[in-house]
Amino acid sequence: MLEIESPASPQTIDLKDYKIPDYYIETVDLHFELGEKQTTVRSRLAISRYSEAKAPPLVLNGEALELLSIQLDGQVLDKKDYQQNPESLTLFQVPERFTLEIETRIYPQDNTTLSGLYTSGGNFCTQCEAEGFRRITYFLDRPDVMARYTTTIVADKKKYPVLLSNGNLVAQGEEDNGHHFAKWQDPFPKPSYLFALVAGDLARIEDEFVTRSGRKVALHMYVQSHNRDKREHAMASLKRAMAWDEQVYGREYDLDIYMIVAVDDFNMGAMENKGLNIFNSKYVLAKPETATDTDYENIEGVIAHEYFHNWSGNRVTCRDWFQLSLKEGFTVFRDQQFSADQGSPAVKRIQDVNHLRTYQFREDAGPMAHPVRPESYVEVNNFYTMTVYEKGAEIVRMLYHLLGPEGFRQGTDLYFDRHDGQAVTTDDFVKALEDANALDLSQFRRWYSQAGTPELRISRAYDAEKSTYTLKIKQTCPPTPGQPHKAPLHIPLAIGLLDSQGEDLPLRLAGETTAVTGTRVLELRQEEEAFVFHDIPCEPAPSLLRSFSAPVKLYLDLRDEERYFLLAHDKDRFNRWEAGQQLAVKIILGLVKDYQQGKPLVLDSAFIETVGRILESDEPDQAFVAHILALPSEHYLAEFMAVIDPDAIHETRCFIRRSLAKALQELFAATYQALTKTGAYRRDPKEMGRRKLRNTCLGYLMELDEPDIRSQCLQQFNHADNMTDVIAALSRLVDIEGPERKIALQTFYDKWQEDSLVIDKWFTLQALSRRQDTLARVQELTHHPAFKLTNPNKVRALIGAFSQGNPARFHDPSGKGYGFLGDYVLKLDPLNPQVAARLVSAFNPWQRYDQNRQELMKAQLERIAKTPQISKDVYEIVSKNLA
Ligand code: TRP
Ligand code: ZN
Repeated sequence: MLEIESPASPQTIDLKDYKIPDYYIETVDLHFELGEKQTTVRSRLAISRYSEAKAPPLVLNGEALELLSIQLDGQVLDKKDYQQNPESLTLFQVPERFTLEIETRIYPQDNTTLSGLYTSGGNFCTQCEAEGFRRITYFLDRPDVMARYTTTIVADKKKYPVLLSNGNLVAQGEEDNGHHFAKWQDPFPKPSYLFALVAGDLARIEDEFVTRSGRKVALHMYVQSHNRDKREHAMASLKRAMAWDEQVYGREYDLDIYMIVAVDDFNMGAMENKGLNIFNSKYVLAKPETATDTDYENIEGVIAHEYFHNWSGNRVTCRDWFQLSLKEGFTVFRDQQFSADQGSPAVKRIQDVNHLRTYQFREDAGPMAHPVRPESYVEVNNFYTMTVYEKGAEIVRMLYHLLGPEGFRQGTDLYFDRHDGQAVTTDDFVKALEDANALDLSQFRRWYSQAGTPELRISRAYDAEKSTYTLKIKQTCPPTPGQPHKAPLHIPLAIGLLDSQGEDLPLRLAGETTAVTGTRVLELRQEEEAFVFHDIPCEPAPSLLRSFSAPVKLYLDLRDEERYFLLAHDKDRFNRWEAGQQLAVKIILGLVKDYQQGKPLVLDSAFIETVGRILESDEPDQAFVAHILALPSEHYLAEFMAVIDPDAIHETRCFIRRSLAKALQELFAATYQALTKTGAYRRDPKEMGRRKLRNTCLGYLMELDEPDIRSQCLQQFNHADNMTDVIAALSRLVDIEGPERKIALQTFYDKWQEDSLVIDKWFTLQALSRRQDTLARVQELTHHPAFKLTNPNKVRALIGAFSQGNPARFHDPSGKGYGFLGDYVLKLDPLNPQVAARLVSAFNPWQRYDQNRQELMKAQLERIAKTPQISKDVYEIVSKNLA
């Protein structure tokens, strides 16, 4: 049966130990017999030795497998010819070229790890990235072993009418006793992590895409039949993504068929298996009644992301898992570009930067901090991180800005051309961009190897006599685990200088003959340097780090008037928003101090007036306005405190929201009314912006807790024709004491109890509630019949949301929240270590809190660490926290 591994002393894998494989596998012939209790897998591998020297042993990876038989070139192997242990199968003597046939038995129905072959909703599916293929059969399960796959699936025809794998369907037919089979062939060599198999009873929609060279590609999307009315948006998004990749990157799809399957039980968002993407149903299914505008945007982004992997990931793949950002950083950048092109680029950038600064900066400052190209890991699944994905995307974005759109495109053309069909490194990527542009990026490469968020300290001086303006810039980077000292980075700093009318001044640096008008990019390379601009007629307002041109923290002593000026006038819309955020951060942190000292809280009147003016402005991008009106999140604010005080942050932030609502009540109410929908439901950027701004107004009004407003909110909840407006109302109602809360929650549950993804929202809103009894309610909900510990979406919706999205309640000084999380990490770990490791990461910043909370969190970490049989996933996180 399934082995339970005990990582008594889990092994660390180091980048410096990378060696090319001794053996390659050229072809793989797989034969699956899917049963109700067990599945047998026969695999025929054509293997050849690479190393010239004497024959090294062949070590195949394998986990939780029952070995039934093994034959080499048709000869049954004797027990003494090989050695089996829980993680591998070693053959001591093998020829230079040979065929290996292995038969194994596995138990997909009992596989709660959701890695390898498992069942979800009665259907079979796989997840092989990063190291799941070794849970299916013995193999060289590493991305630099690329093989051609043929896959035959045999299963009961009634129960599993749909049988899918990568590539093209080459045969299908009936067998006796009600079974049928399908045979798939993938012409492109691929690493094992891109293998996929699906079998089940699924509804299909078909569409078609004609590539720019005129080839027809069949697009098939499979969902469980009760979800058939929710497929349209994902399909439309896919076609937009396919066209976009042709236009912007010159990348065409390469097979005759592209399939997407949605499953309810999935560890991550989605998976780019060659020709057969498997998705968490959360990132496929949508209709206006059940999905919010944010859900729609996320689906579009994830669909595009997985599609773009076909080139950035599949055609050109990673040499080893230290290179993960090669495909993930680049592909995130590509999906961000795509989404920006679908709506408001400024709003997209604001969202991405918010995400990065809230979660990646926090990761980069904690015990799990690691470079975008990590140097070592214990469990690779723990390295699918914000750093590898989001900071990795920022690195590619900086390259884009340094090279310009044309230079960047020449670079990516060369990269795809040069490395098509290969497994390569982040360095190969940079090299291709370098070669295509005759440019030296050697200093820039440090972005991949140095962890930590760089800090820029900037001072400015205006010399009226000489009409010069000087920016002095000092860069540093804080120490991170294993990296006490850092070398200076090559940083693109996009800037503009505004005159008193808010116009960008032409910028001419010392030694230049002509000036640049508009944004210009300064390239920082030294620890300290100065830039002197000439012909500056009056002291300008500096707009620095425009569009967030580098993932850094910027320190510059702007005066409040300057920030108000930038908020009103900056040509760079990202920096307009940023100026408002900086003002809000400063005000909130000031009030946090007052709160801690027991002083009365008073909100600055200039801030109130500015918020009023923004509400009244005729800015057409209403989503942008809504973002300006949103105060920084509690998590983001915490980043500015030496010792995080979650209560003070929460209370102060609520106080400011309430004060704004009181002072501007009429304006919020009038705006809410003015933004009432006219006409039918639509989902275009304008309507989404309208909903967002209107719901922002509702949120502020609900701070007042007045009966009229509460009933208006309930009214919206009851009568809205779309989930965006329903959730906006319900998310305010869950905070209040009044009877409306209970009524709304019950109504919502009764209406949507059959829709698992909607019930996830119901769990999340309750987990995020400000109410004092939230933990008790969350605990109660873990016993609700709709809650399932084996379903990652449920775990994330309830336990994840509470522990990572509700700092005020999770960090309750009693430590009850911590104990609750500890309990669930231990309950989940034996079932699904990947998700348990994500949960336990909520403790990562424990050393940033006060003594009492530190001790309470540490006690949980220690309790988990000394639990016998803990997975290496959880062990790695916990031990790095305690190191
Ligand atoms: N490669 C997937 C992506 O597009 C990530 C992924 C999906 C994954 N499932 C996984 C990573 C399971 C680790 C484990 O980003
Ligand atoms: Zn990805």
